[in-house]
Amino acid sequence: MRKCLICNTPIQPFMSFGKMPIANGFLLREEFASEYFFELQVAFCEHCGMVQILEQPDREQMFNENYAFFSGTSEGMKIHFKAFADDVMRNYLPSDNPFVVEIGSNDGIMLQNFAENHIRHLGIEPSSNVAEVSREKGIQTVCSFFDAVLARQIVEEHGQADVFLGANVMCHIPYLHSVIEGIDILLKPDGLVLFEDPYLGSVIEQTSYDQIYDEHVFLFSVTSIRYLFAQHGMEVVDIAPQKTHGGSMRYIIARKGTRAVSPQVSHCLKSEELMGLHEPAVYGAFKKSCETSRDALLKLLTDLRSSGNRIVGYAATSKSTTIINYCGINSDLIEFISDTTPVKQGKFSPGAHIPVRPYEEFKSRYPEYALLFAYNHAAEIMAKEKDFVMSGGRWIVYVPKVQVLE
Ligand code: SAH
Ligand code: TMP
Ligand code: ZN
Repeated sequence: MRKCLICNTPIQPFMSFGKMPIANGFLLREEFASEYFFELQVAFCEHCGMVQILEQPDREQMFNENYAFFSGTSEGMKIHFKAFADDVMRNYLPSDNPFVVEIGSNDGIMLQNFAENHIRHLGIEPSSNVAEVSREKGIQTVCSFFDAVLARQIVEEHGQADVFLGANVMCHIPYLHSVIEGIDILLKPDGLVLFEDPYLGSVIEQTSYDQIYDEHVFLFSVTSIRYLFAQHGMEVVDIAPQKTHGGSMRYIIARKGTRAVSPQVSHCLKSEELMGLHEPAVYGAFKKSCETSRDALLKLLTDLRSSGNRIVGYAATSKSTTIINYCGINSDLIEFISDTTPVKQGKFSPGAHIPVRPYEEFKSRYPEYALLFAYNHAAEIMAKEKDFVMSGGRWIVYVPKVQVLE
């Protein structure tokens, strides 16, 4: 039997999404035959509350020189990370020669704000292609996976850090105990950890099951994060819900007893209890909601297609891999997926092998329907695509429910 990655309690999956490929594994036709698949099963640990997937590909299979996700492709996220960095600079950094470390720094979308302000910083980013983009921007970057061993090397070279940052990366790392041991080595005694990830409560509330894919080994809640850090003498001192990625949570963590704990933390723990986030019944209901959503989306696409409509996918997001493969969407239903990322264009989507085409192909011949795979960037995209709607085009969305937007 599998054991919880956080507390070692035996756990059982509450659902399987079936065989899945690497979510960011956009591929060429000649790579189809050797494509890697694994079973995407999800479990909930009744002891510590952590929701987790049971099987994850080796980290080098996901995070390497071909990593397809460049954070800077979204203007909305640039604004988000500038605000995050401004908040850290204003409220959490000492005035005397501060040092900031970020893991999963990708193309430097967050750290560029510290670099511009001449603040000592270091990005830890194992995917060499995105790390290179950040170096070109003048951001200090180590191309490596963060863990306790690397933390020791950083301290030897740069001294301890005031702030440890991570966005959409902690939930990617199965060996979190080693990461937190690393944080303990790296952080000054009164240092702070600030990180944010998609929030379990939002996923359950909105049936946004596309947040579950190979890279996202965990779906965090305040309850499970509090448990995890308590094992290492640290506590959640504040939280801040975020609108990003369909609903995220930012956690602010310090060594136990070094900071006052905001009342927000106990409010949120209470609301998680009320939502039943730590009761198995909620996951049984979630499974049913996923199945209902899957059936409704497949039916909608099939009906629209059989009445002769063209449907194009908008944005080849990593999370769309779960939607496409779980729902059984293929290139008979979706002509192609339009995406602005050059390394994805000309390739095929993981698993279903739907062609990924440059954005210009969407723009030059609008389809009747566009399936919005990047609903987390909906505001930015709707503002940009007024012409599509003016010319009679319609958006299909599936979070929080399957519908054609009027
Ligand atoms: N922080 C960015 C990127 C998130 S994608 C944003 O929010 O947009 C996750 C990133 O974490 C990837 O660039 C991946 O290469 C990196 N990553 C994965 N495992 C890591 C680890 N153990 N240490 C540091 N970075 C890691
Ligand atoms: P994300 O949802 O994981 O942030 O991935 C964003 C993907 O969507 C990335 O491949 C770029 C693509 N994209 C577009 O094609 N057009 C857009 O307007 C936006 C915002 C993103
Ligand atoms: Zn557990």
